[in-house]
Amino acid sequence: MTDIKIKITDREGVLHEVDAPTDMNMNLMELVRSYELAPEGTIGVCGGMAMCASCQCYVKSDHDLPEKSDDEEAMLAEAFYVEDNSRLGCQIHLTEELHGLEVELAPES
Ligand code: FES
Repeated sequence: MTDIKIKITDREGVLHEVDAPTDMNMNLMELVRSYELAPEGTIGVCGGMAMCASCQCYVKSDHDLPEKSDDEEAMLAEAFYVEDNSRLGCQIHLTEELHGLEVELAPES
């Protein structure tokens, strides 16, 4: 069993419960793109380098996520709409520990 369930609320407020593979070295931004939950060109703009914040999301569940890297901290310090629970989706790698994760996509900026 390598798929986990993740709940993603898109920018229109629509909740999607999706299956996420943990054996494909994917991150949350790539997952959102693969299910086309945000229009092409509005998420993952920098390709997952923690340099654009287009993949910002709010973490709603109390999962223990890996600490932010310095790059992620720095990008979030400059981004718009940042909340205490903001993370960059491209920096969250899909692992079995994230089963049941709930996130909401931050507004496009
Ligand atoms: S895709 Fe650019 S910061 Fe995540």
